[in-house]
Amino acid sequence: MTVNEFPIKRAFIEETFPIKEVSDESAREKNIRHGHISTLHIWWARRPLAASRATAYASLIPAPKDVEDAEKIKNFIAELCKWENSLNPTYIEKARNDIRKALGYTPRVLDTFAGGGAIPLEALRLGCETYASDYNPIAVLILKAVLEYPQKYGERLVEDVKKWGEWVLEEAKKEIGRFYPNDVIERKGYFGETGEEFIPVGYIWARTIPCQNPSCNAEIPLMRQFWLAKKDKKKVALYPYVEGKEVKFRVVGDGYEPMPENFDPSKGTVRRAIATCLVCGSTVDAKTTRRLFQEGKAGQRMIAVVLHHPNKKGKFYRVANEKDMEVFRQAEEYLAKKVEELRKKWGLEPVPDEPTPEGKGKGAERAFSVRNYGLNTWGDLFNSRQKLALITFVDKVREAYRKMVEEGYEEEYAKAVVTYLGLAINRVIVRTNNLSLWDNTREDIASTFGRQALPMVWDYIETNAVSETTGGYTSALGWVNRVLEHCSQA
Ligand SMILES: C[S@@+](CC[C@H](N)C(=O)[O-])C[C@H]1O[C@@H](n2cnc3c(N)ncnc32)[C@H](O)[C@@H]1O
Ligand SMILES: [Zn+2]
Repeated sequence: MTVNEFPIKRAFIEETFPIKEVSDESAREKNIRHGHISTLHIWWARRPLAASRATAYASLIPAPKDVEDAEKIKNFIAELCKWENSLNPTYIEKARNDIRKALGYTPRVLDTFAGGGAIPLEALRLGCETYASDYNPIAVLILKAVLEYPQKYGERLVEDVKKWGEWVLEEAKKEIGRFYPNDVIERKGYFGETGEEFIPVGYIWARTIPCQNPSCNAEIPLMRQFWLAKKDKKKVALYPYVEGKEVKFRVVGDGYEPMPENFDPSKGTVRRAIATCLVCGSTVDAKTTRRLFQEGKAGQRMIAVVLHHPNKKGKFYRVANEKDMEVFRQAEEYLAKKVEELRKKWGLEPVPDEPTPEGKGKGAERAFSVRNYGLNTWGDLFNSRQKLALITFVDKVREAYRKMVEEGYEEEYAKAVVTYLGLAINRVIVRTNNLSLWDNTREDIASTFGRQALPMVWDYIETNAVSETTGGYTSALGWVNRVLEHCSQA
């Protein structure tokens, strides 16, 4: 390796920098989604691309000649760093030429703490010979997916990830699609005509504990609140009512039966682990709630089903019924068989049985409270159908690899393809676990990692992992593909 002397005595960035403009762009970038590497896989400390691009460029060109020159270059940087100009040759080519002219050679850039890959991606974009490393294996995987594979394999990889992603989805659907049956409207109701079909987006569950009042003993569905849709133009909620010793629900609000007066859906049955029984009105203190969970006395109950119609806007809701539970139980039975099969096939436990963090000590306790509630292994963070869906997807991705090699793909290339298929499963996992929240302001599923922690969640949404709607594999694959496409053009 020849070592070139760095011919710039004083770099532009040492003199001046358009801090405000680049900061604004960096902040704006958080809302830019399609194709952005943050949508491939979360990395907490990932730097904004705008700041990475601007600082890389400003470090590789010389200080300005005068004030006028400085202004001109600052204006250019303010444009160069915009996400919209990421693949715009007018800016990118000029930046590359400026750097090459200033240095007289192609610079090598090494980021030894590259994490989520923002800095090396931008160095690459600016025409540098780029190296990246990190000691965290997840970061290394992300770096391979962002930097190495797209450069090495380009368009062919994009096509194969699409093709094999669809293969994985179809195979998974064949095997587990029946556990997410469509709703066929039997009789014209609040939404839908007789015979119309709706696709389940997901199932809303509430964890439950028994009321501790000895003369009551009713099941308390733990729900932090009852809103399903809480938008300016659409207000829908679950209305709880008591029948005998049982809490039941009705869907109320816009498009459904009217919202009862004096009903405040934002007041749920549990706050800070203190639960209120709707049957007798008594409360369960937080310590007892935690104890009930740790002793395995807590349960869960499917409360509602979220649906969608391919030709209709918005989401639809209905209360869960015995048929929904029957399908769930069938999935549970099938899971036992599938686990058995995969244990033999893989030679390891298909559902992760490693312990979750104990959550002791101050900082960590805030981040991981699930241990206090008996979620002792990582596998406990998924209900049976979620486990089934996830291990089935993993199975299919491994099958895809085997098939590709069988069909004569080079192993290294096949590995690159399944890296993206696996990353798509990760996107499903962060929305397919029993800590996933239904975001009623967007009528969408929120990523579990939106909170940078794993706190206990009382009511959660179980996504339909094989559907084309939010949170499913199709959508996940779409996001991953757009990042791959972007990176292969960079
Ligand atoms: C602040 S983050 C870097 C973020 C990165 N610039 C990005 O845009 O995503 C620091 C990174 O250093 C890595 N790291 C920490 N100690 C390291 C070491 N001794 N060797 C290699 N990497 C290390 C961490 O895993 C983490 O990804
Ligand atoms: Zn009670």
